[in-house]
Amino acid sequence: MAERKKITLPYLYDKYQRGEPITMLTCYDYPTAYLQEQAGVEMILVGDSLGMTVLGYESTLPVTMADMIRHAQAVRRGAPTAWVIGDMPYMTYQASVEEAIRNAGRFMAEAGCDAVKLEGGREMADRVAGIVAAGIPCMGHLGLTPQSASSLGGFRVQGRDAARAVRIVEDAAILEEAGAYAILLEMVPDRICQLITERAHIPIISLGSGPHANGQLLIFHDMFGLYPRFKPKMAKVYGNAGEVILNGLKQYVAEVQDRSFPQPEHWFTLKDDVYAEVLALLHDKEND
Ligand code: KIV
Repeated sequence: MAERKKITLPYLYDKYQRGEPITMLTCYDYPTAYLQEQAGVEMILVGDSLGMTVLGYESTLPVTMADMIRHAQAVRRGAPTAWVIGDMPYMTYQASVEEAIRNAGRFMAEAGCDAVKLEGGREMADRVAGIVAAGIPCMGHLGLTPQSASSLGGFRVQGRDAARAVRIVEDAAILEEAGAYAILLEMVPDRICQLITERAHIPIISLGSGPHANGQLLIFHDMFGLYPRFKPKMAKVYGNAGEVILNGLKQYVAEVQDRSFPQPEHWFTLKDDVYAEVLALLHDKEND
């Protein structure tokens, strides 16, 4: 790919105004960020989903700011021109506006992020407004919000009944009013996503919420068969890297055991005269 310019908010809004879809993926490490940058992915979310996909927790709740900053730094190094979003982990913004601003600031100052994302609707509007007032772009996240999975009844579609759908539509308007530059809708019915997209004046990004949004997000590990516990319906699998890696690992184990690995091209040699000198030196030292 020819070198691309830094993705900025004006770039994202220009695309939005032109009605061109925005691309977004999750990413947690340097090599994957490098590949996403090469592929032209515009927005990269360093999601707290890394707690499950990379760290092996049962949920996102144990993820800390230290985890997020370390991974966001690696992603920034791998994807210097992408719009990198730091996902605010559990209890780093819920307690107060001040805490939300301080932790959002850490993503910007310590990890070089372009923006942050937090979960929740009207109850989080003052956190969004505070972060935005501090000069930090903030993305909202509605629908299935994994940090609240317990109170939402698990990882399930949200807004299937009229009252909850209306609440999500209203929440989207409230977050926009609070200053969110974009909103992610996760596992919301397609028609509700369309309604929100038509009413909004900011980009709406869909994760499993259908084709009418202004952009699409997928979880990288779901796209490539890298998360063994479950595969959500919304995740299109673009390749089974998990299977490729497993086959390679099995072959490695077999080759080490039958001594067909390593071959001469896999090790380093020493010239005869240097080796003779090593033996002579050792002999001298050992017979002193
Ligand atoms: O942490 C994450 O990756 C997310 C997505 C599920 C949207 O928040």
